[in-house]
Parts: sequence; C-alpha cells; structure tokens
Amino acid sequence: MDLHIAVLAGDGIGGEVVGAGMRVLDAVAVKFGHVIHAEHADVGWAALDKCGQALPEQTRAVCNRNQAILFGAVGLPDRDKTLPLQERPERVALLELRKGLFANLRHIFLPRGLAPRCPLKDEYIAGGIDIMIIRELTGGLYYGQPQGISGQSPNRHAVDTMVYSEMEVRRILRVGFETARKRRRRLLSVDKANILATSQLWRENAIAMGREYPDVQLEHMYVDNASMQLIRRPAEMDVIVTENTFGDILSDEASMLAGSIGMVPSACLGDADSSGKGATPFYEPIHGSAPDIAGKNLANPAGTILTVAMMLRYTFGLQAEAHAIDAAVYAVLDEGRVLTGDLGGKSKCSEMTSAILDRLR
Ligand SMILES: NC(=O)c1ccc[n+]([C@@H]2O[C@H](COP(=O)([O-])OP(=O)(O)OC[C@H]3O[C@@H](n4cnc5c(N)ncnc54)[C@H](O)[C@@H]3O)[C@@H](O)[C@H]2O)c1
Repeated sequence: MDLHIAVLAGDGIGGEVVGAGMRVLDAVAVKFGHVIHAEHADVGWAALDKCGQALPEQTRAVCNRNQAILFGAVGLPDRDKTLPLQERPERVALLELRKGLFANLRHIFLPRGLAPRCPLKDEYIAGGIDIMIIRELTGGLYYGQPQGISGQSPNRHAVDTMVYSEMEVRRILRVGFETARKRRRRLLSVDKANILATSQLWRENAIAMGREYPDVQLEHMYVDNASMQLIRRPAEMDVIVTENTFGDILSDEASMLAGSIGMVPSACLGDADSSGKGATPFYEPIHGSAPDIAGKNLANPAGTILTVAMMLRYTFGLQAEAHAIDAAVYAVLDEGRVLTGDLGGKSKCSEMTSAILDRLR
C-alpha cells in the first residue's frame, strides 16, 4: 500500500520524537511491504523564523494533499510570550489543523513494566490500565458565543457559552459506541446532566443510541464523580466519551496513569465531506515541545511511536502493522532495560528507538 503522510516536526523535542516515529514507520513499511511517501513541512517557530508565519500556506497545502498528518509539537514558552495570544504557534497551528476534526482519541495504557512509575498504589492498578478517552473537540465552551469580558472594573462581566447541537452530540457518541465495540465493549458516558442543559441533551442521546448497541455496556457518570473514579478504579474503565472541556481535563488527569506524559499517543479524526475527503486526520503525542530537554536526545519517543501505530490503525486500516508497533514498544517498556530519564532510566531517545526497532524486525 502507498501511504502519503505530511510530517510536521515543529519545535523543541518535536524533531527528535517525530524522527523516532518515522524510523519505526519506515521499518514497519519494509517489514509489511508498504511504501511511505513522506512530505516534511515547517510549523511553529521553525516556520515563523523562516517566513514569519506559524502555519505557512505551503504547510497547509502539504497537509491538505496528504492522507494523514504526523505532528510533533509547537511552541517555545520564552518566545511565545513575545507574541499576542492569538498569534502564538499553538493557537495558530493547532486550532487550524484540527478544524473539522471533532473526535480526539487519547489512549492511556500502563505497561506492566511501568507500574512503579504510576502514582497510584499497586492495589488500584493490579487489574491494568487501558483506557481510550474520546473527547469532543470542536464544540462546547471553547467555541460557543457569546464569549468575552465587558463593562468597567470593578463591575466587569465575563461570559462563556456552552452550546451543543444534537448532531454534534450524536456523532461523537457514535465514535464512542463504535470504539467500545472494537475493545472491551464498555462505554462510560461522562456529563453533568444534573445541572447542564447540554448534558441533558447529551444523556438523552446516549441512552437512545445505547439501544442500537445492546452488546455495549453503557454507564453514565457525572464529571465530578468520573474524575474521582478515574483514580479509584481505573482498571474497570474501557472507553470514556465526553464533551470538549470535560474531556480536556479528564484526559490530562488520566495521562498521569500511563507513567509519563511522554507515553500518551493521540488522534484527531473527522468525517469525510461530500467530496469524500474532509479535514486531514491529525496524529500527535499529547506532550508539548519540552524545551528543558530539547536537542539533548533525552526525550521519550514512545508517545510518538504509539501515535504512528494509531495512524496506521485509524487512517490506513493496517491493524497487524499497528499491533506490531504496540507490541514492540510494550516489550521494551516491560523489559525495562532501555528507558529514557522520564521513565527512571538513563537511555537516550535514539537508544530507546533502536531497542523498539530491534523488537520489530
Ligand atoms: N500539541 C502541542 O503542540 C503542545 C502541547 C502542549 C504544550 N505545547 C507547548 O510546548 C511548550 C512547553 O510546554 P510545557 O512545558 O507546558 O509542556 P511539555 O509537555 O512540553 O513539558 C512538560 C514536562 O514534561 C516533560 N516531557 C514532555 N514530553 C516529554 C517526553 N516525550 N519525554 C520526556 N519528558 C517529556 C518536559 O521535559 C517537561 O518537564 C509550550 O510552548 C506549550 O505551549 C505544545
């Protein structure tokens, strides 16, 4: 199969971890007989320094004409603060590239070998942690209008609007049910239906859609309780589906359960439009540019390598290839001999990548 991929390394450790991801992707392609067509493009400060734009037109074009985007990270805090908020790389590049991609999937998995790195006691993680969080990405509080601050101090008012259409609620719930069906068939729908109108609409639709999926065990939970249960009984959780703000907070909380922020992959997916294409699916590790360790070959490449596996699974339907990558990463982590500093080891990013490649071949 020919795989056409836009590769946007970005800033800080982006180049190192995306380089690691591409080494693994190339190895998988050789092993399974695929051809990778990778088009590299600048984004973030790498692009600002060259042409004064965090997301140049040429980079957009590269993203539009490829089947998937593999993204590192953008932003450098010391330089970001020299720009107004709306011109900062994270704002410009991420929001633009994710437009139309309404489903954000974050996979939280704790390999056995990393159990000592998980902040929870053994008794809470004995059953293992393997959670897929599905966050709605294009609606809710972050985009609802009106939004802003008005009036004069000390009598100013601030308003944010949480708004969801039934269409938006149903399409993300559908992703939740379908994902649960491919995993352990348990779906936790998180809302605040005792208070919020948007959550009442959410829950009504979750219950109704649940009738179409009698094979999926559906549970409802208020978000405050869910944030507590995520720590108390993570082993019982399979797929969580929730709206934008709740998902933002819960998924960051859950990322700690995987042993390091450098471990968590993610995908942003949408629907095909009438032309059959739609926005290009976007894949990235959840961490940022980590300027404190950038350029030192110290970054944990696992999150990006697992992100490559997600890309193969969701955009290209290559299940065996994705599974081979997951298995190689988890074998290295379970063995615990070649680990980067964030996982308590002394190995370099390139050494951990080589160890994963050895398992893959
Ligand atoms: N999607 C993105 O592009 C994205 C996401 C988050 C933050 N950012 C940007 O990144 C910059 C730095 O943000 P931050 O410091 O808040 O978050 P960060 O994720 O970059 O770093 C937080 C801490 O985690 C460590 N860390 C992160 N990834 C790691 C990895 N793969 N291996 C080992 N350690 C790792 C870092 O060294 C740091 O100590 C900011 O400019 C921020 O805006 C970008």
